Amino acid sequence: MKGIILAGGLGTRLYPITKIISKQLLLVYDKPLIYYPLSILMLANIREILVISDKENIEKFKILLRDGSHIGIKIEYAIQEKPRGIAEAILIGENFIGDEFALILGDNLIYGHGLPEILRNTKPPSIFLYYVNDPKRYGIAQIKDNKIISIEEKPENPKSNLAIIGLYYLDKYAIEIAKSLKPSKRNELEIVDVLNVYLKENKLNYRILGRGFTFIDCGTFDSMLEASLFIATIEKRQGLKIGCIEEVAYRMGFITKEQVIEIAKEYNNSGYGEYLMRIVQEL
Ligand code: TTP
Repeated sequence: MKGIILAGGLGTRLYPITKIISKQLLLVYDKPLIYYPLSILMLANIREILVISDKENIEKFKILLRDGSHIGIKIEYAIQEKPRGIAEAILIGENFIGDEFALILGDNLIYGHGLPEILRNTKPPSIFLYYVNDPKRYGIAQIKDNKIISIEEKPENPKSNLAIIGLYYLDKYAIEIAKSLKPSKRNELEIVDVLNVYLKENKLNYRILGRGFTFIDCGTFDSMLEASLFIATIEKRQGLKIGCIEEVAYRMGFITKEQVIEIAKEYNNSGYGEYLMRIVQEL
């Protein structure tokens, strides 16, 4: 399976900082936001990844993540000229996708015990659902008798509190669907419209991530702060990092101890390098 990280968008809710830098490059406690979705794909055992962003920011992502070989993966890059919607990622990635792929939004932070196993055991086409307090802000799925019966984007009158997380497991049929889409009222190619085609054909599976999980989409000042505080709390309590891509690569067997030490030397001054040194000594 391949992976796409969609890391474009205007980030208008975070203006003015996102006038000069992509939201997905902003810090969430001790690392750039994009490390969290990237580590999710790596934990799903995905090693071929396409990062999509706008023309200006794509160069910065390239500096940060390079070709991925230092963390044992292959990263390619593509440009989204304008934020024409999440489903446009499928069209941009058409030649990359292959049979099955996971599309993750670059600002989604997902965390919880047993998540790697769920990520590896879930088969496309599937979505992941999470109970939220403010369902009007999300794509919402309604479940009955263990089946999805409706999916709606930001509904006025939500039929449930189950939000669709920005991690979609899809297959190449999604390309055909995306090609047939018309822009919505807000002039975007909607991922919900793609999911609704799968749903109509009775193909869409779902997983609920319950109380033991955390899902934060970092789109506002408050959610950025909450995400940072959450990560800081867990990392300080446990002395283990969340979303540390080098550690994930090492634990997944993508890179060797020597490769981790090489990276650690570069990052020594921030404590990030010290952490990597510690990890390889302990394991
Ligand atoms: P949003 O949070 O819906 O949009 P945004 O990031 O532009 O922020 P704002 O609403 O504050 O203007 O996007 C969700 C994620 O998807 C985010 O990581 C950006 C990404 N995205 C794209 O890369 N391209 C797109 O066309 C859209 C709609 C979103």
